[in-house]
Amino acid sequence: MNILQNISLKQYNTFGIDASAQYFAPFSSIDEVQQLLGDKKFSSVPKFILGGGSNILLTKNVDGLVLKNELKGIELIKEDKRHIYVKAAAGENWNSFVMHCIQHNYAGLENLSLIPGNVGASPMQNIGAYGAELKDVFESLEALNRNDNRIVEFTANDCAFGYRESVFKRKYKDRFIILNVIFRLDKVPVFNTSYGAIEQELERMNVKELSVKAVSQAVINIRSSKLPDPKQIGNAGSFFKNPTIELRAYQSLQHSYSNMPHYAVGNDHVKIPAAWLIEQCGWKGYRSGDAGVHLKQPLVLVNYGNANGEEIYDLSEKILQSVKQKFGIQLEREVNII
Ligand code: FAD
Ligand code: EPU
Repeated sequence: MNILQNISLKQYNTFGIDASAQYFAPFSSIDEVQQLLGDKKFSSVPKFILGGGSNILLTKNVDGLVLKNELKGIELIKEDKRHIYVKAAAGENWNSFVMHCIQHNYAGLENLSLIPGNVGASPMQNIGAYGAELKDVFESLEALNRNDNRIVEFTANDCAFGYRESVFKRKYKDRFIILNVIFRLDKVPVFNTSYGAIEQELERMNVKELSVKAVSQAVINIRSSKLPDPKQIGNAGSFFKNPTIELRAYQSLQHSYSNMPHYAVGNDHVKIPAAWLIEQCGWKGYRSGDAGVHLKQPLVLVNYGNANGEEIYDLSEKILQSVKQKFGIQLEREVNII
C-alpha cells in the first residue's frame, strides 16, 4: 500500500486550499482499508475519509491519516417489474455514475446530474438538486464500522435522511466509511420538470419528447450557467443551507421585506433562500483578497486563487453575523469544516 507523507491536498479539494496531510493513503479495495484501519502504527492517529473533496473547507493541515476512497465498480444487481437495482462503489465519480445510468435508460438520477463528488459521499448529506434528493432513489448502503472493522448494511430508514442531513453527519459522525450504495432506479421514467427553470430550458432546447437524457441535459445547462466550475474558481457549492423559519417569524419579516422569496414547508414553516438573504446584506460579488462571494450566486463562497481556509471561514462568519443581525435568521453551514 502506498502511504504518502506530508503531501499537499490542494488538488484534492474543490476549494483549492493548500493544506497538507500528515499521512495520505488511497485505497482501492475493502481489504486495503480494513488493513489501514487495523494497522497498529495508525491506531491512535485521527483519520479522515476523503471523496472528491467538493464539500469540505480545510481550515488547517490535517494532522493524521487521510484515507482517499478509490473503490470502483458499477453493477446491476437485480431487477423487478418496475425497478433496476444498481450498486455503485463509493469511489465512483457521481456524475459519471449518473451518465452511465442515463446511457442505459435507468431513470431517477437525471435531476441530480453534474453534482460534483463521489458516490460514497452522496448519502452523507442526502445530496439534492432540482426537486430531487438522493433518498428518492436510495435502496441501501454498506459501510465499514471504524471501531470494529465490520461491514454493516444501512436501509433508508437507518440513514435518517433529511434536507442535507443523514445519520452520518450526526449520531454516527466519523464512525463509518461508506463502501457502496445500491440505487433503486425506474424502468419507466417519472419525470420531474416542475422545479426552477427546467421546463423553460427544455423549451429552449426544442425538446419535443421528454427523455431522461433531455432532462439531464437541461439540468446540466442550467447548472453550468449558474454555478462556478471549480476548475476555474475554487468553491464547494452552496456554503450554507437554505434556512427554515416559523410561519409567524416570516409574517413579521414580511412587513419590512414584502418581496422576500419563500416556499411553504408544511403548514407552519417557511423556507427562505439563503442566497436572497446574503444578497440583501450586500455580499453578492464581495471580495477580500482571494476570498469572495460569487458574482452570480451569493450562496457560493469562492477562492479566487490563494485564499486559505481560515480566510474563507472568517468571511462565512461575517456573513452569518450580518444575516442574523438584519433578519434575525441563523444560517447554518452546509460545507464540512475541517
Ligand atoms: P467530500 O467533500 O470528499 O466529503 C464530504 C464529507 O463526506 C466529508 O466529511 C468526508 O469525510 C465524508 N465522506 C466522503 N466520502 C465518504 C465515505 N465514503 N464514507 C464516509 N464518509 C465520507 N451538493 C448537493 O447536495 N447539491 C448540489 O446541487 C451541489 N452542487 C454543487 C456544486 C458545486 C460546484 C460544488 C463544488 C459542490 C456542490 N455540492 C452539491 C456539494 C458536493 O458536491 C456534495 O456534497 C458531494 O456529495 C460531496 O462529495 P465528495 O465526494 O466530494 O465529498
Ligand atoms: N437568489 C437571489 N440572488 C441570487 C441567486 C438566487 O436572491 O443571486 C434567490 C432567488 O430567490 C432564487 C433562490 O435564491 O429563486 C434560489 O436560487 P437557486 O435556484 O440558485 O438555488 P439555491 O436555493 O441557491 C439550492 C441548493 C443547490 C441546488 C439548487 C438547485 C441548497 C443549500 N442549495 O440552491 O445545491 O443545486 O438549489 O436545486 O439547498 C449545494 O448543495 O451545494 C447546491 C449547489
